[in-house]
Amino acid sequence: MNVVLIGAQWGDEGKGKIIDILSEKVDYIVRYQGGNNAGHTVVVKNKEYIFHLIPSGILHEGKVCCIGNGVVIDPAVLLQEIEEIKKVGVYIGSRLKISSLAHVIMPYHKNLDVLREGKRAHKIGTTGRGIGPCYSDKINRCGIRMVDLLNPEVLKDKLADNLKEKNEIFKKVFGHPGFNFNSIYNEYLKYGKIFSSYICNTASLLNKAIENKKDVLFEGAQGTFLDIDFGTYPFVTSSSATAGGACIGTGVSPRRIDRIVGVAKAYSTRVGEGPFPTEFSVDFSELMRNKGNEFGATTGRPRRCGWFDAVMVKEAVLLNGITELAIMKMDVLDGLKKINICEGYKYRGKLFKDFPDDLEVMEKAKPSYKEMPGWPENIDKPRSYRQLHPNAKAYLEYIRDMLKVKISMVSVGSARDETIFLK
Ligand code: GDP
Ligand code: IMO
Ligand code: MG
Repeated sequence: MNVVLIGAQWGDEGKGKIIDILSEKVDYIVRYQGGNNAGHTVVVKNKEYIFHLIPSGILHEGKVCCIGNGVVIDPAVLLQEIEEIKKVGVYIGSRLKISSLAHVIMPYHKNLDVLREGKRAHKIGTTGRGIGPCYSDKINRCGIRMVDLLNPEVLKDKLADNLKEKNEIFKKVFGHPGFNFNSIYNEYLKYGKIFSSYICNTASLLNKAIENKKDVLFEGAQGTFLDIDFGTYPFVTSSSATAGGACIGTGVSPRRIDRIVGVAKAYSTRVGEGPFPTEFSVDFSELMRNKGNEFGATTGRPRRCGWFDAVMVKEAVLLNGITELAIMKMDVLDGLKKINICEGYKYRGKLFKDFPDDLEVMEKAKPSYKEMPGWPENIDKPRSYRQLHPNAKAYLEYIRDMLKVKISMVSVGSARDETIFLK
């Protein structure tokens, strides 16, 4: 079985936890888009691990973890992540594979990310990790790829060409002194040497593995509504965070995909700017943020919080072809008297039941809610569907019926065993 796992909202749905759980059953785990803008949390035996670039399956001994061609890699961050994980006793060895075709985040990408954001009238609230500028260079056909770090002559040529143009822009547009060739060249050649044993043709590796009946888990980063095409553009990231990205970002054919797991919180959160129709009031948002510990795993920024938006998740089911949903953080809703589910958007006398393309609708619409009764705080965490409070079951079943997709997992805490599996 080859499984794609994606976020069905605006990221931070709890993908890391489910990747870790599903990793046990597969042979290969591959990241296919995004970069270290991602922060995927896995909690094992009360210890929290946050992964930015290395697939969240790395804690499972013997599994091969790939960083696909669709990912953008900041070598300094990857190196640090490898070192940290080795320090806690995880054996990496030849288990980590990096696509030679993955693009490299350069120092100027990170600066440009921050400088551009500073000049924008409508800020996106990027993570400042250089993601957008690196993907822009990829599309502009001037990017530097992992394989280039292994070839001093090619790297010299490409870096010099880039700096010629970029330094002028930095100076003229941003009043920034620009970048020194030698220091970047030497630093990135060093990364090439360090990573040489990991860099390979991951497309060939994964296809051969599938041919040999091995199972692959495709780890999505960000979420459907941060997707460059289908998200709340321009308040999105710069990669294809929907399921289709799994094929582009690994070189594995869509014919090979068997299941698509969508991960959604039992409510909604978003980091950064952009429309959020179901966003709570400031006070309630703060209460829920503290209850759900909704602070970014990458930047530590407070996450904005709101009610479950079924219009969005229904669109996510369609766009990704979700075959099953994992509903996360049900425990965070414990103890509320009433819970809302957004079923449509009201705007200028019209009710939108489908996700609108026009951002103005998302920005100005009033949500139309179905109100459901809450359930009391749980002293003992439910460990089976049967143990869930009847109102919690009713909430999940309402979502299931509305979205016409089965729920296969319900999460009631961050640990592995705080997960309910449904038949
Ligand atoms: P990801 O980016 O989708 O992997 O999600 P993050 O790791 O950024 O954020 C999810 C956060 O929720 C992490 O701190 C997880 O440990 C935590 N988490 C995951 N599932 C649950 C759950 O069911 N209940 C609670 N309370 N926390 C959870
Ligand atoms: P995971 O994989 C939540 C958001 C940023 C910003 C926008 C663009 O942990 O779910 P970028 O730096 O990508 O150009 O920022 O996207 N963003 C995320 N939000 N979870 C993420 O990843 C995110 N990655 C990017 O906050 O609004
Ligand atoms: Mg995250």
